[in-house]
Amino acid sequence: MNETKVKNERGKFPHVFSECKIGSVTLPNRVVFPAWVLNYANTDGTVSDKLMKYYTDLAEGGCGLIFTGAATVTDDGIPFDRVMSVSSDKCIPGLKKLFAAVKKTGAKAGIQIVHYGRQSSTSASGDVLMAPSAIPCPVMSQYDPEYKVREMTLEDIEMMREAFIAAALRAVKAGVDVVEIHACNGYLLNEFLSPYSNKREDNYGGSAENRARLVVEILAGIRSRLKDPAAVGLRVSGDEFVEGGLRPDDFKELVPMFEKAGMQMLNTTAGVYESMAHIVPPKDMGETPHVDMAAQIKQFTSVPVCAVGSILTIETAESILASGKAGLIAMGRAQMADPAIVRKTAEGREAGIMKCKHCNNCTFWTTGDPEVYCAVNPDYKKPAASA
Ligand SMILES: Cc1cc2nc3c(=O)[nH]c(=O)nc-3n(C[C@H](O)[C@H](O)[C@H](O)COP(=O)(O)O)c2cc1C
Ligand code: SF4
Repeated sequence: MNETKVKNERGKFPHVFSECKIGSVTLPNRVVFPAWVLNYANTDGTVSDKLMKYYTDLAEGGCGLIFTGAATVTDDGIPFDRVMSVSSDKCIPGLKKLFAAVKKTGAKAGIQIVHYGRQSSTSASGDVLMAPSAIPCPVMSQYDPEYKVREMTLEDIEMMREAFIAAALRAVKAGVDVVEIHACNGYLLNEFLSPYSNKREDNYGGSAENRARLVVEILAGIRSRLKDPAAVGLRVSGDEFVEGGLRPDDFKELVPMFEKAGMQMLNTTAGVYESMAHIVPPKDMGETPHVDMAAQIKQFTSVPVCAVGSILTIETAESILASGKAGLIAMGRAQMADPAIVRKTAEGREAGIMKCKHCNNCTFWTTGDPEVYCAVNPDYKKPAASA
C-alpha cells in the first residue's frame, strides 16, 4: 500500500502540502474530501465493498482528510436507499475497517453525521418528516405528492440531540479522527439555525442563541463525553441565498457560540434546496464562487476554516491558502474525477490527471440515477443502457 504522506518533492505547493492541526489531530496536508452522499452503502447503511474501495482510493491518492458519509444518526426520514448510517452499533464493525483502511495510508478519517429534516421525501422514507417548524420544503413538497412535515416536540429535540451525540461517539469508537456535524444545505440542523426555516417560539427558536441551541448542545455533549483525542467539526451554509435566510454576517454571533461549545474545525458551504445551484456550483457560476464567503466567516473564529466550491486544481487550492482566505480546501468533484489528483500533482504528474468536466452529472438526485456516476472516472462511469 502507498504511503499517503505524499512527498512534495518540487516544493511547488508549500501551503497545500503543509500540515494542519484540528484539535489534536494533525492532517498531513490541507486537501479535504467533503462529505458526499454517494448511495454506495449496503441497504442497511453499513459499509459496502464499494464504499471501502471509494474511500481507500481517495486516501491512497493523497487527500489529507476524508469526510465519509453523510451518515444518518437515526433511521427515519432517509431519502435514498443506500446511504451510510451510524445510527446503531451494528454499523461499528464496517466503520472500523473503513477508518483503519483510510488511516493506514497516512490520511485522516472523518465522518459527517446528518439528519435530513424537512428536505427529504415521505414517499421514499415512509415517514412524516421532522423539522423545527411545520413549514414544507418548497422543493421537496413539489416533487413528493405524499410530502408531510411536522414540528418537532421538545421530546423529539431531546431524542435528536442524544442521537447525534451517540452517533458521534459510535464513530469515535470505530476509530474516526474527525466527526463533522452536518448543519448546512438546508438539512435538519441548518433548519434550526436559520430564521428562514425556524419559526419556533420556545427556547429553540427566535434569537440567534435559541436557534443555535440544539447545535451547541450537540457539540458540548460530544466534547464532554469524548475521552479520545478525536476532533469535532461543524459544517454550515455560510450564505443560504434565500430571502430571510442566513448571511455570512450572521455567523459573527453564531460562530463564537459553536467554538465555546467545542467546535474545532469550521467547514463552509452554501445554499439550501431552494438555492440548489449553490450547493454544487455549476460551471456558469464561475471559479471558486464561495471562497470570499468563507474568508468573511473566517474572521469570526480561531479554528481552521475550510473553503469549498469549484476548486478544481491544486494550483487554485494553493493560491486560496496563500491568500489566507481559508486554512483548508475541500475538493469534491476534482477528487471524484481523479482520486489521485493530490499525489499526481505532488509528484509532477499533472499531465496524467483526469480533470473534472464541471458537468454535474454526479448530482444523482437531479439526473435520476440510482447512485453517483462520474463522466470522467472510469471506475464510476454510468453503465451503458442495456439494449
Ligand atoms: C453527489 C454529491 C453528494 C453530496 N453530499 C453531501 C453531503 O452528504 N454532505 C454535504 O455537506 N455536502 C454534500 N455535497 C456537497 C459537497 O460536499 C461539496 O460541497 C460540493 O460538491 C462542492 O464542492 P466541489 O466543487 O469541490 O465539488 C454533495 C455533493 C455532491 C455532488
Ligand atoms: S460527473 Fe462531471 S462534475 Fe461530477 S465529478 Fe465527474 S466530471 Fe466532475
